[in-house]
Amino acid sequence: MKLEETLKAHGQEHLLNTKGLSEEEKREYFSRLESIDWNTVELWKNPEDLSGKGEIVPIEGLTVQEIEKRKEEFKKVGIEAIRAGKVAAVLLAGGQGTRLGSSSPKGMYDIGVTHSLYIFEQLIHNMFDVVNACGGTFFPLFIMTSDKNDQETRAFFEEKNYFGYDKNYVRFFVQDMAPSVDFNGKLLLEGKGKLALSPNGNGGWYSSLHRTNIESEFPNVEWLNVFAVDNVLQRIADPVFVGATLESGKLCGAKVVRKAEPREKVGVLCLEDGQPSVIEYYELTDEMANAKGPDGYLAYSFGVILNYLFNRKRLVEIANARIPVHVVKKKVPYLNEKGELVKPEVENGYKFETLVVDMVRLMGSCLPFEVKREHEFAPIKNKTGVDSVESARELLTLNGVKL
Ligand code: UTP
Repeated sequence: MKLEETLKAHGQEHLLNTKGLSEEEKREYFSRLESIDWNTVELWKNPEDLSGKGEIVPIEGLTVQEIEKRKEEFKKVGIEAIRAGKVAAVLLAGGQGTRLGSSSPKGMYDIGVTHSLYIFEQLIHNMFDVVNACGGTFFPLFIMTSDKNDQETRAFFEEKNYFGYDKNYVRFFVQDMAPSVDFNGKLLLEGKGKLALSPNGNGGWYSSLHRTNIESEFPNVEWLNVFAVDNVLQRIADPVFVGATLESGKLCGAKVVRKAEPREKVGVLCLEDGQPSVIEYYELTDEMANAKGPDGYLAYSFGVILNYLFNRKRLVEIANARIPVHVVKKKVPYLNEKGELVKPEVENGYKFETLVVDMVRLMGSCLPFEVKREHEFAPIKNKTGVDSVESARELLTLNGVKL
């Protein structure tokens, strides 16, 4: 079908206006339009049913107490794996951090008080704890960016000399973008001949990484520790976690914290039809939310904190598997009929995102590894209040970080 007919068939005639575009711009614009995945765009009408469909039961994991007892054993295994180059870290930094509201990449946010301390810097400090525990062995760090922040992120690391990390171990890769639609399903433009594109969620990290030659540069890597940019307290390539996951024989490990109360708004690990799966807080019935396990804790109490260890062989097997697309309401800057750029104050459209949490199910097996939230979970999502710069500063101070 010709592009014009395709656009008409999908009710997107408004995209055909190319007035004022040069031939070169037109070519680029059309080639972008040709590559639209209509199956995804059409999801705004009937979003996928993402509620757990299978039989849900609690999953067994390693508790803080059990980990404490076997800490030295796990640590030894983890350190050996890291020293053998089997573990790489993957920093998901392609998000836009709209809630924090900074125009620069979130990792460039300065959380210091008496001196500067950038989020990226704090993460590198955390990595150095492991480098030192491994007798000075650096481990690879793959940083996922998006078209929106790639250049700025790379330039920042260069300018700061990678905060002392060995840059030979650092690689950047860029995730894919997805278009956005308004509430009537019309694709939005952010400029003349420019679709409003945004990062397509953190679920595509492996397919984006797999397309590069980064993995062949580090052929020994067997495990990838994926983590979010915004948890400044998190342990990265934590040898104890690595060792425990390897010893468990599972294909994935997930750091979890105990839920603070039955209705806390976190996704919890469980088994769905025998497969590890993360169930969202709103999918838990009251009965499930309040159910107690044999140990007296909530039966569904392992809240995920976006820190996973994935087995690379398994990732290769599932690289082309489909994961659900989430249709999310967001504020999307767009060009109005008069050709003016509008930055909406309220949500005005849908974005299409896949999420890393949906990969857990595909891994086939997963070890929940409990950590203490006050020591390992200080996410920065907002400027103030819950999960904010303020709350993260308090937690960093509690853990002895000088701000
Ligand atoms: P969030 O869910 O907090 O999304 O991302 P966000 O886009 O950064 O922030 P808001 O919702 O606009 O405020 C969790 C992690 O996943 C990464 C983020 O950078 C963060 O580390 N992420 C998110 C990506 O790498 N790519 C994406 O497309 C989305």
